[in-house]
Amino acid sequence: MEEKLKKIQQDYLNRIGSSKTLKDLDEIFIGLFGKNGEVDTLSKQFKDIPKEELKTVGPLFNQIKQKLEKGIRVKREELREEIYQALENETLDTRSGEIKKRTGHIHPVTQFENEIIRLFNKLGFVRADAPQIDTDYNNFEVLNIPENHPARDLQDTLYISGKQQVTNDKLLLRTHTSNSQIRALSQNKPPIRLMNIGRCFRYENVDARHEHTFEQFEIVYVDKRVSMTHLQFLSEYFLKSVFGKDTKARLRPKYYPFVEPGTGVDSLCIFCKGKGCKVCGGIGWLEIGGAGMIHPQVLRNGGIDPDKYSGIAWGFGPERMVMLKYGIKDIRLFNSGDLEFLQKL
Ligand code: DAH
Repeated sequence: MEEKLKKIQQDYLNRIGSSKTLKDLDEIFIGLFGKNGEVDTLSKQFKDIPKEELKTVGPLFNQIKQKLEKGIRVKREELREEIYQALENETLDTRSGEIKKRTGHIHPVTQFENEIIRLFNKLGFVRADAPQIDTDYNNFEVLNIPENHPARDLQDTLYISGKQQVTNDKLLLRTHTSNSQIRALSQNKPPIRLMNIGRCFRYENVDARHEHTFEQFEIVYVDKRVSMTHLQFLSEYFLKSVFGKDTKARLRPKYYPFVEPGTGVDSLCIFCKGKGCKVCGGIGWLEIGGAGMIHPQVLRNGGIDPDKYSGIAWGFGPERMVMLKYGIKDIRLFNSGDLEFLQKL
């Protein structure tokens, strides 16, 4: 029996020593100490062993049990240590290419605006910024829109609490990019060819065609003998570049206090080419922007002599143009952060 026990001990020590995983060790442990395991089976055989022999075999048996149990415990620690080491050395390589890349892209309206800038850079127009938070004076007064002027009703305004420090003027979120006009005129000498593109804000009832936050594209062009002809040409250049060669521009009388004469700028309906359809309401033309000859008083406000110089200005709605171009039905989608929509464009 003694020999048998020693042999079993050696076999198990070998198995423990060559175990590769914790699972291997679990199996050895159960095989030894589990129900009907090696230890169980052996102890059942003890009743047949002569008493004399049992005196040595019993302690040996207990010794072997302890030794094997300890062997398993030590080996288990070793294997755990190996696993921790392996985990510690393992790094997640995010550049490996196995993680699917999601590439973003420039917002469709910004893409369109970049295209506008390119188109008008070619004609010598330079971009000039104007602030989104501005004074009542720059946004309205200087453009011939005094307080209580009915034109203010067309642009419901978001005022900001607090005043401009130097002039003590009311502050507001600009309602149009025309707040760039007075800066363009007073900070430059003709010839002036500037454009301003950016955010505007109105206290609007939001629906599929109206947003409280939207973009405008403004130009100011002042030189000797600038006329409506230039306006017609530039409108046509712009619309043809965006909507294609078979588009036409039409200037239609419209009132804005800061231009005289003032015009709406229409594009030949890009869907029916003038025949009349649902989109243009049967008219054949779509209103895209407002424009006109800069009012002599506005030129004077900017320190420019209207007897020597004349100028044109316009304001277009880039979002409306992108909507027409790509058949987008709801202006609210642009600022929605809706990835499904944005990724389609
Ligand atoms: N600022 C006008 C608006 O928001 C658009 C506009 C009309 C701009 C005529 C101009 C202009 O520069 O000359 O409705």
